[in-house]
Amino acid sequence: MTESVTTLAPLAETTDWWRQAAVYQIYPRSFADGNGDGIGDLRGIISRVPYLLQLGIEAVWLSPFYPSALADGGYDVDDFRDVDPKIGTLEQFDEMVAALHGVGIKLIVDIVPNHSSDRHAWFREALESPKGSNARARYIFRDGKGERGELPPADWTSIFGGPAWTQVPDGQWYLHSFATEQPDFDWKHPEVREDFLRTLRFWSDRGVDGFRVDVAHGLAKDLGDVLPSKAELKAMPKADGTHPLWDRDEVHEIYAEWRAVFDEYTPARTAVAEAWVETPERRAKYASPTGLGQAFNFDLMDADFDATHFRDIVTDNLAQSAVTGSSTTWVFSNHDGVRHATRYGLAPRAGRPGKQGADWVLAGGPADEIAAELGLRRARAATLFELALPGSAYLYQGEELGLHEVAEIPDERRQDPAFWRTTPETRGHDGLGRDGCRVPLPWTRTGSSFGFGTGGAHLPQPAWFADSSVEAEDGVAGSTLELYREALRLRRELQGAETLTWNEELSGGDVLAFTRPGGWLSITNFGDEPVALPDGELLVMSADPVDDTDGTALLPGATTAWLRRGEA
Ligand code: GLC
Ligand code: CA
Repeated sequence: MTESVTTLAPLAETTDWWRQAAVYQIYPRSFADGNGDGIGDLRGIISRVPYLLQLGIEAVWLSPFYPSALADGGYDVDDFRDVDPKIGTLEQFDEMVAALHGVGIKLIVDIVPNHSSDRHAWFREALESPKGSNARARYIFRDGKGERGELPPADWTSIFGGPAWTQVPDGQWYLHSFATEQPDFDWKHPEVREDFLRTLRFWSDRGVDGFRVDVAHGLAKDLGDVLPSKAELKAMPKADGTHPLWDRDEVHEIYAEWRAVFDEYTPARTAVAEAWVETPERRAKYASPTGLGQAFNFDLMDADFDATHFRDIVTDNLAQSAVTGSSTTWVFSNHDGVRHATRYGLAPRAGRPGKQGADWVLAGGPADEIAAELGLRRARAATLFELALPGSAYLYQGEELGLHEVAEIPDERRQDPAFWRTTPETRGHDGLGRDGCRVPLPWTRTGSSFGFGTGGAHLPQPAWFADSSVEAEDGVAGSTLELYREALRLRRELQGAETLTWNEELSGGDVLAFTRPGGWLSITNFGDEPVALPDGELLVMSADPVDDTDGTALLPGATTAWLRRGEA
């Protein structure tokens, strides 16, 4: 691997480094395995810091690395202030922070405040304590219905399918919005609030630069004595801050307290909310500077590869960020969704824009439905489009290799509770579940687990990973890895004020073009037919140009190009 860069430019030193950062999500158990037990770990991450540096990202978002039985890939946390012994130690965590900071890369860690795992000390205490005790009040316990309380307090379904209430030995029931192993906290309890402030300080003191807040819209709940039914819940408005479970207005009181903690540090710690809310206005509240400061917008994960959709999404989100004063976020892939190379290789679904990935996992991931080459070609064009936009770009490990979703995982090796908690009949939108985007990364063409480690991989890797490995792409002109490196390098050089101007002259039909300050032009051809390449210095292109009959270079279909032009 060539290592020409030794550290990143000082962008990382400013207080608002996060506003336009390219953030790379590491799903630690699937990134790199340092000790050969088949599970990615902190040693593995440390060993790959040169790779991250060379990739040119500005920050890492680390998915949960806490002690966990992995009932939900680590989002079931046993202890919020420790490292899972299976993947490292606190000392190694410090070493990792130092290694990243040493080359100018920031670190954002996942924080999971909606629930703990059922192995958390507090939940175990709750089980050992009587009904009505303080220990139970930190979670959401209720008596059951029916003559002997043998029925759940309500007929609610968990997000992963199956019931949302589980009975404990003394007959009471507890709420888990996700898996059974993920009991929801009661955020009205002062100890819960205090404990999370302690956790935020614990990691901030260790040098963590920011937090990705899991299920940020779920913490505040208002459950009276009489619980609504599932149907009643569904019928309740979700956009006015009064829904009993989701996106309640008072959740922002919690984040105001968190903000005070973030601001104790220099530079202030940052946060980005995962908030699935009804409207852009509701999302803006999470991005408020008096709250978490930034919120994910997942609109591009739910969009067809289509010029009009993309333009509308960008326009709406830039308008929203102008209102909040936060910067916009862009995401095509993460650990919860079907990889975008695969989504874009599937035919759009009539009347269900952006739902091809969801429908495909629901159908069991049929290989013959994916136009793999076209999907990757579009994904590369989409990413180059994304990296030219103002705001932060959140990239997911493996997308820089052009990885497709892995469908060929035998059922018995699947891990996602969204798969295990349902049957083909009851399966929600998750279908096969999310394991297909969580398969350990291929680093080499051959060898045990394609260089992930020396002891196999905790999810099986398909044979085609060889050609998408780092080794296969490193230094190879035109590879997806080299495209990401080049685009991220140019992005750092070109990045300016957070403004975008649509170029109306070049845009129209399947073509979308915009400029950024300094004469940076991005043009995407979403269609099939080549179009003219505008004048200017060609900086990078997501696919090779094609020649017109007179020999001039054209922008082919499903391709993005960046050019530098004289300032308009
Ligand atoms: C978030 C995470 C997802 C997890 C869930 C429960 O949506 O992104 O992976 O399963 O929260 O913690
Ligand atoms: Ca390991």
